[in-house]
Amino acid sequence: MKPNEPSRTALMIARQRAAHQVLDHGSILDDPYAMRILREDEKDVLQFASNPLASIGRLLTTARSRIAEDALSRAVERGVRQIVILGAGLDTFALRNPHGAQQILVYEVDHPATQAWKRQRLAEAQIALPASLIFVPVDFERGDLGEKLVAAGFQRNSPAFFTWLGVVPYLTEDAIGRTLDYVSSIQNSEVVFDYMEPPEAFSHELAQLEKERDKQLEKAGERSVSRFDAAGMAAILRAHGFLAVEDLGYREIASRFGHAIQGLAPGHAGVHVAHAKR
Ligand SMILES: C[S@@+](CC[C@H](N)C(=O)[O-])C[C@H]1O[C@@H](n2cnc3c(N)ncnc32)[C@H](O)[C@@H]1O
Repeated sequence: MKPNEPSRTALMIARQRAAHQVLDHGSILDDPYAMRILREDEKDVLQFASNPLASIGRLLTTARSRIAEDALSRAVERGVRQIVILGAGLDTFALRNPHGAQQILVYEVDHPATQAWKRQRLAEAQIALPASLIFVPVDFERGDLGEKLVAAGFQRNSPAFFTWLGVVPYLTEDAIGRTLDYVSSIQNSEVVFDYMEPPEAFSHELAQLEKERDKQLEKAGERSVSRFDAAGMAAILRAHGFLAVEDLGYREIASRFGHAIQGLAPGHAGVHVAHAKR
């Protein structure tokens, strides 16, 4: 990311969530804040909807949130009271939080420039901030996640549930490793995240589109730099102390959620959603 600029991809993903409300009626992720936080009209949100990557983008963006939020609900039922949204972008879970009665705290961690931009958007949209939401600005490449979380009130001796959606591809392996080390240092912690395989794992047309997207992102200073295959990621998770890992590939994601996406493009995307536990 460019040091003083908010994430471009955070805006792209937020537009996918908003387009999902309009085109798919929020069938995977019902998000009443998705349009509000953008402050754009439907025309802007739908401008890229005809690109085949857009329907696949809506599927992956909303399915990974659904998988993460369902696992998070189960963790809250088991007594977890700390939620950490790593690389939050314009994620709205903290605003929609259905566990208010359980008094959970939601720590939103993001790059300082993206977080400042989000806070400004929330203020401009006159969206009230819940008392349970705590903002923690951290650059995963340079900052100390653990130190910043604890300074914000995070209890490192209590269990926590982490989501890390749409972030891993943009980080160096070093920053990914340090973040995984921190998550696994928390007893009974869990993390749901997604990662990408190299472009060759995508079906032909999608691989071409993926390469073009990468070039555009490179210009915006946000190229995806870290890609893994499933075996490689499983080995990394084990090496960082995770004991149980579930890994859903694109076929499973599309078979579970694809029917809910209007006009889902054919093809195979090399994207996985993983759920790792200590
Ligand atoms: C594709 S967006 C995903 C946002 C959000 N999780 C979602 O699904 O809507 C990528 C996010 O990663 C964050 N990010 C990228 N590099 C980062 C870094 N070095 N430190 C902190 N956050 C970073 C960006 O600020 C952005 O919010």
